[in-house]
Amino acid sequence: MKNLLSAICAAATLLLPGCTPKDPVEARVDELLSRMTLSEKIAQMNQLSGRTDMREAVAGGTVGSILNCVDPAEINELQRIAVEQTRLGIPILFGRDVIHGFRTIFPIPLGLAATFDPALVEQGARIAAVEATASGIRWTFSPMLDIARDPRWGRVAEGSGEDPYLDAQMGAAMVRGYQGGDLSSPDAMAACVKHFAGYGAAEGGRDYNSTMISERSLRNTYLPPFKAAIDAGAATLMTSFNEIDGIPSTGNSFLLRDILRDEWGFDGMVVTDWNSSGEMVAHGFAADLKDATRISVNAGVDMDMMSHGFSAYIEELVREGKISVKSIDKAVGNILRLKFRLGLFDNPYVDASAAAQACYTPEHLQAAKLAAAESAILLQNHGEVLPLENARRILVTGPMADAPYEQLGTWIFDGEEEHTVTPLAALRKRFEVVYVPALAYSRDNSTAHLAEARAAAAGCDAAVVFVGEESILSGEAHSLSSLDLQGSQSQLIAEVRRSGKPVVVVVMAGRPLTIERDLANCDAMLYMFHPGTMGGEAVADLLTGCIAPSGKTPMTFLREAGQVPYYYNHNNSGRPCKGNETLLADIPLKAGQTSLGNTGFYLDSGYGPLFPFGYGLSYTTFVYSNIRLSKQRYGTDETIVVEYDLQNTGHRSGTEVAQLYIRDMVGSTVRPVKELKRFERVSLDAGQSRHLRFELPVSELAFWGMDMQYRVEPGAFRLWVAGDSASGEPVEFEVL
Ligand code: NOJ
Repeated sequence: MKNLLSAICAAATLLLPGCTPKDPVEARVDELLSRMTLSEKIAQMNQLSGRTDMREAVAGGTVGSILNCVDPAEINELQRIAVEQTRLGIPILFGRDVIHGFRTIFPIPLGLAATFDPALVEQGARIAAVEATASGIRWTFSPMLDIARDPRWGRVAEGSGEDPYLDAQMGAAMVRGYQGGDLSSPDAMAACVKHFAGYGAAEGGRDYNSTMISERSLRNTYLPPFKAAIDAGAATLMTSFNEIDGIPSTGNSFLLRDILRDEWGFDGMVVTDWNSSGEMVAHGFAADLKDATRISVNAGVDMDMMSHGFSAYIEELVREGKISVKSIDKAVGNILRLKFRLGLFDNPYVDASAAAQACYTPEHLQAAKLAAAESAILLQNHGEVLPLENARRILVTGPMADAPYEQLGTWIFDGEEEHTVTPLAALRKRFEVVYVPALAYSRDNSTAHLAEARAAAAGCDAAVVFVGEESILSGEAHSLSSLDLQGSQSQLIAEVRRSGKPVVVVVMAGRPLTIERDLANCDAMLYMFHPGTMGGEAVADLLTGCIAPSGKTPMTFLREAGQVPYYYNHNNSGRPCKGNETLLADIPLKAGQTSLGNTGFYLDSGYGPLFPFGYGLSYTTFVYSNIRLSKQRYGTDETIVVEYDLQNTGHRSGTEVAQLYIRDMVGSTVRPVKELKRFERVSLDAGQSRHLRFELPVSELAFWGMDMQYRVEPGAFRLWVAGDSASGEPVEFEVL
């Protein structure tokens, strides 16, 4: 009844003679806002976790959003209380961390990024939305768009890696997938881009740590993915835990007002991260929770996740004149707008009896399998040991071979390991399998069963060793200072190697690990990140050659953790490494101070990475040729057309991710040595050749230069089309 009344009032607002018609949602927001008391407004700004009984809070009208309640019957009941028992009947918005799937778990986001397949990532997000909304969850705290260049940071697992362009493409795809074409559709789930901003630059890779990011670097590197996702329609945004140059993001009005609202025109809703408002006290940026509340609201936060400061202090702060009613109205308007856009007022309930059937459908499982297969990166394949076509009897060993929970990865609150297909289960359907776990879990230091694994390998045609990380070793607050395989996993690989049989290593991990020594002890290595529910089926398809690997590294793979941070799109120093420097083992005694090369290399590990960004092999080979531009000189409003030929020069069909990089040779500020600007997945039969093209508007060469204006600077550029960030010959062009 109350909803009906508010709709009638809103319609009346629309029809007032002499007025320009108002957007219907805005009219409804204004009308509702005009009837709310201050305490009703504050309630909307309060988000609580539904791990405890929420009925009293809802009936008391003290909460606007609940996270972590996933039982559809309970969601309906809480919604009924909100709609029928509170004065204004404003529905609750239910949120959840649906990060890489709800029940059907897809690869971790870093694995999804390795697919370089935004269409598939969008489909995965759509599936997650269909499954989660069937339970009444209409808001996910995803995608995470934090550029991450430090694999020690556990949350690299949750993002798309080190590159702003790839991150932007993946983020926008996820937003489209979650939200669908129409946010008011019952299966649309509002996206939440996070963590705004710079969270992935935590010093030392230690979670929540300080960041030092200049405004230029923020704008050129860290913000573009957020802008892209917001342009794709992202409905909400989450602030980050970290501070940048001394200012915690939850209290940063430059980020939340000047950039987000004024420059980008964002009219969605801003939520804090979990208690990130309250944590400004620990930062030493706010004196107490009340002070933190004042700072957060004035900086531009709309909703508080779990600091309890908004509910406790806003009323007092308004009375004291420290927060204006206008800023409260703005914040509440942003929250109500979202609830109207989601259609929650018109359709607050969910069909609880249909929730379970929405999950694990054959279509969902098939998409999860494809995503897992496309996320696999073939790092090495000596002697074309893969695919395992002639093997009949194989040894399956290692702690990740049959670890249904661990292969799901981090942030899988609603994933159910009973539905996981492990590699062991899937491979048993394709091979005669001898299974020796050898290690109980990834950190297992025991060596008691390694010899058993070697002996078993000796009696097989090939050995497949499944290693990696348990899911708990990556994700939030799970940083590591060593990136080597944990426990006795490297010893297991080395021991199996001694069998003399072909050894294939499959890594399932939450980050790029330092696996150089392990590569030396195997013929082939497939790097999967945590592949999700259907990881086992995907592995079986890859090992048998039903699918050829096509994943590419979304982060640089390093030789040593001591190289961190290392990323392909770095600026040049004045003394870039030449590659002829003298390394540790070759330094003569009493060598002259300047005799080793005098560049920025490590005496022990040289300069280059183990594998560059964008790298990945297939079961076939590809050759790029005839890379040519439509012309040599371009005006700033023109589009560069790059044509190239790509040939599959091997004997199998395969898919290559063709990548276009540019370098701005001279800028008003130093420019990165390479920047990814386009990519495309291209499937080719054995021997097939295709004539292909990329189009790149010159406007996309713009950056924030010396005068902090976003523009293209004229001058010389180089361009590469290649299969990774370290290959290919440049072609040159000029911008006039
Ligand atoms: C803290 C995490 O940083 C954030 O990503 C997540 O969405 C919230 N907790 C809610 O669980």
